[in-house]
Amino acid sequence: MTRKVYIETVGCQMNVLDSELVIGSLRKEGYSLAETAFEAEVILFNTCSVRAHAEDKIYSALGRLREHMNEHPEKVLGILGCMAQKDQDKILKRAPHVDLVCGPGQLERVPELIEAAKASGRPQMALSLGRKEATRHDVEASFISYDPIRDASMRPTPFQAYLRIQIGCDKFCTYCVVPSTRGPEQSRSPEHILSEANQLVDQGCREITLLGQTVNSYRFDHGDGRKTCLSDLLIRLSGINGLDRIRFVTNYPLDMTNDLIDAVRDLPKMVKYFHVPAQSGCDEVLLRMKRQYTISQYDEMRQRIRDRAPEASVSSDFIVGFSGETEESFQKSVDIVNRSAFKNSYIFKYSPREGTRAFDKYVDDVPEEVKKRRNNDLLVAQNQQSLFLHRHWIGKEVEVLVEGLSLTTQREVKRLGFLPHADSPVQMTGRTMHDLIVVFDGMPRLAGSMAKVHITDTTAFTLFGQIATVENQTTLNEKQMAQARHAAARFNPSPTPKEGNISLPMA
Ligand code: 5AD
Ligand code: SF4
Repeated sequence: MTRKVYIETVGCQMNVLDSELVIGSLRKEGYSLAETAFEAEVILFNTCSVRAHAEDKIYSALGRLREHMNEHPEKVLGILGCMAQKDQDKILKRAPHVDLVCGPGQLERVPELIEAAKASGRPQMALSLGRKEATRHDVEASFISYDPIRDASMRPTPFQAYLRIQIGCDKFCTYCVVPSTRGPEQSRSPEHILSEANQLVDQGCREITLLGQTVNSYRFDHGDGRKTCLSDLLIRLSGINGLDRIRFVTNYPLDMTNDLIDAVRDLPKMVKYFHVPAQSGCDEVLLRMKRQYTISQYDEMRQRIRDRAPEASVSSDFIVGFSGETEESFQKSVDIVNRSAFKNSYIFKYSPREGTRAFDKYVDDVPEEVKKRRNNDLLVAQNQQSLFLHRHWIGKEVEVLVEGLSLTTQREVKRLGFLPHADSPVQMTGRTMHDLIVVFDGMPRLAGSMAKVHITDTTAFTLFGQIATVENQTTLNEKQMAQARHAAARFNPSPTPKEGNISLPMA
């Protein structure tokens, strides 16, 4: 009988990738995926600590599992990821039925820890060193990278994949837990990245999203005087046959160099899109956040993208209600949204996090009601901009990588309880080269192919259109097709960000 593992993932794309890798290594040990926690022998939560809400959800899920775990002492319950690294043995105090606590830098050890927990009946912990606990070299070494174990079947779609090029973060924004949970910034070697990209393309992957907390700070020192930066890497990745699209998230404003903007503009495989979080439109707030730039520097960077790559889409993140944010400083965030033509912005209410500078130094002095109102007001401003930008595409033809069933079709699939046939006429979704979401009438068989779509209508978030042409060759075999349809029904391919939901970009 095969052993079953259940995994639930919250947080950023890094976590989605980490879960893929953990499942990849467990499959090697003979595990297969369970649909529910109750039918699994091993239950894993890959967690996020960026906001309190994401952690609260995990603690309540653990509460719901308490009785089940007490009735089944042979099962293993594991907490992986940022919450494990941040809360460490506090997790065991709050939820003594947890058997395994493993930080994001130690995930390679999950199979061994599961066995140890089973054999000893005692909880197992695997954590990286704290940033101040040892020398930089030793702390770096305690964040182990084991990325090459890729498992295509764990991905929402077989033709798209994440590829980590950098781990950790050295920026230490005062509100953010990431530099302590994911450790020091380290760039992976271009050789490892290229070989992994080739492996992904061999598995049928057409689009790769490069991941890093501050991905544009990527810099690899070869030790012989040569250095590779992100634009060099993009040129080399562009040479891979069979790879059609390359994206990267998330960028840090001060590291947005001209060579990178030009690479995105000039390399035909590059998705014309920059996600560069501003976080606030007010210099005083940025200073307290320790973002290390002023608004005029951000504006200058935005203008350089406009000048050098006028077609490129730009999106941002904002935190509202950070300590000391007055009505006047908040209004400056509205102003920057109104003048920056962001395709979209991910907006978050400030959530104080233990272990960060802001938690120790500043009072969380903006009431929840005010945070909510500001969140809403900023969203209204952003939506007006988004609608305006989307309208530009009406009447034009765009090339779309078809991702899967549209949200409406997915809801219908859930309601009816069966998957549509590969040739059934259903609404599909995909993305353009400018990272815009397009919904159109098609059929599940199109998932993974490129289609030309004539845009007829739009909302602030989604373009609507009719298929003009589809590339003649179907790129997926029958097995991949079945997988794509299953995955499309389970996942939301173009999620609107919600707290604690998957796919929140990071930086
Ligand atoms: N509270 C609210 N939002 C936060 N983010 C990071 N830390 C916090 C926090 N403590 C946001 C930032 C980041 C995004 C992924 O999450 O906007 O870019
Ligand atoms: Fe690093 Fe981004 Fe967190 Fe700042 S917000 S510390 S850049 S991960």
